[in-house]
Amino acid sequence: MATLVALKRVLIGFGILVLCIWMYIDIFIHRECESSPRERVFSANIERRILTIRKKAIISAKKVEAIESITQNDVIETMVLTKESNFIIKPPPESTTAKVSAPEYYVMTMLTVFNDRVWPGYENFTAGDLAERDNEYLDTLDRNLKHKNVKEIHLFYIYEDALSVLGRRMHANLHKVVPVKIERPMHMSDFFIYASRKLVNKAAIAMNGDIVLGEGFDKINTEKMRDEKVMYSLSRYYMLDKTSQCNLANMKLPSDYMVSHDTHVFRLAEPLNETLILDKLNYPINMWGAENAMIWTFKFLLKFTVRNPAKVLATYHNHCSKVHGPSKEGIDEHKYSILYLPNANWTKQDVLDSKIAFEDKLSYRMLS
Ligand SMILES: *[C@@H]1O[C@H](CO)[C@@H](O)[C@H](O)[C@H]1NC(C)=O
Ligand SMILES: *[C@@H]1O[C@H](CO)[C@@H](O)[C@H](O)[C@H]1NC(C)=O
Ligand SMILES: *[C@@H]1O[C@H](CO)[C@@H](O)[C@H](O)[C@H]1NC(C)=O
Repeated sequence: MATLVALKRVLIGFGILVLCIWMYIDIFIHRECESSPRERVFSANIERRILTIRKKAIISAKKVEAIESITQNDVIETMVLTKESNFIIKPPPESTTAKVSAPEYYVMTMLTVFNDRVWPGYENFTAGDLAERDNEYLDTLDRNLKHKNVKEIHLFYIYEDALSVLGRRMHANLHKVVPVKIERPMHMSDFFIYASRKLVNKAAIAMNGDIVLGEGFDKINTEKMRDEKVMYSLSRYYMLDKTSQCNLANMKLPSDYMVSHDTHVFRLAEPLNETLILDKLNYPINMWGAENAMIWTFKFLLKFTVRNPAKVLATYHNHCSKVHGPSKEGIDEHKYSILYLPNANWTKQDVLDSKIAFEDKLSYRMLS
């Protein structure tokens, strides 16, 4: 009897073992059969994507060869189109929102100083001219670093020696500087991919290197902007009256809408779609129409409300020196435009649809 029971146990044990081995083999075989082709498709997709990206890169590189010789400080004026378009948007409510803490901005901008280097296309300027432009640039940075609502300035730079200029020339508030090394002149997508990775839920400002932040920035309720997906894309103040002395105090906003938007204020609730940003905005920020394409993308693809309360938020174009980038004729301004970017599909109509008229009310104002 005892022998029978033992035999039964051995048989059951053996049965379970066989079952386990069979299940293991089955799972293994199935995994082989099912997932291997899937992996093959997946890697083929990746390879195809890499090939496409490579091809795109080669085409872009060819199309925008002129880029490297142009500096970011001398932003080519954004396209000016005479034809009116339907860019009028509903006037904003002057909202009375709850008091929130004063905004602290994380500014993204470029560090571009000559530092005794003569860039291609600048050969006709004297060393004195270039030094004057550097002073202007450093003055801009200094003023922005002293702005009481600026918490950090993320400075995108290419050349290490530019950083040493900061150490030598700038003394106040250097702890606010966060240097960010880039390998080529800034692209529009860089601002937004960087903000998506590093500045989610922070009040962010993306702007050109020669823009001084002026009045009004302390009054914005950036939390409400975040919750309602609002971006301010601001037109700059500049010397309208060329006969008066060039300084920030004499700079004004023109009475008619002018397309140059140099400062963009936003607060991301979540990271943006990087694929979409790269598909649409991977071009140098000084291209013709650069800001138009950016505004269009935010309005129509990312579904932001883009506003331009430039009458109550001042930003100054600190450029009095005579140093400007290489002549536009030389590089064929008609080709150095978002309209000629391969695969991005920008049209003149998109540029027209991107206009944001000046507003004189600060929507999303904090209660004081
Ligand atoms: C410098 O000036 C010379 C003579 O006027 C001109 O031919 C040349 O195109 C200028 N170079 C640049 C980069 O503007
Ligand atoms: C991101 O954008 C791409 C291109 O427009 C789109 O195909 C993709 O579905 C988007 N991804 C998400 C998560 O929305
Ligand atoms: C541009 O248009 C082509 C052809 O219609 C399309 O395949 C491509 O996805 C578009 N690219 C973008 C970035 O919208």
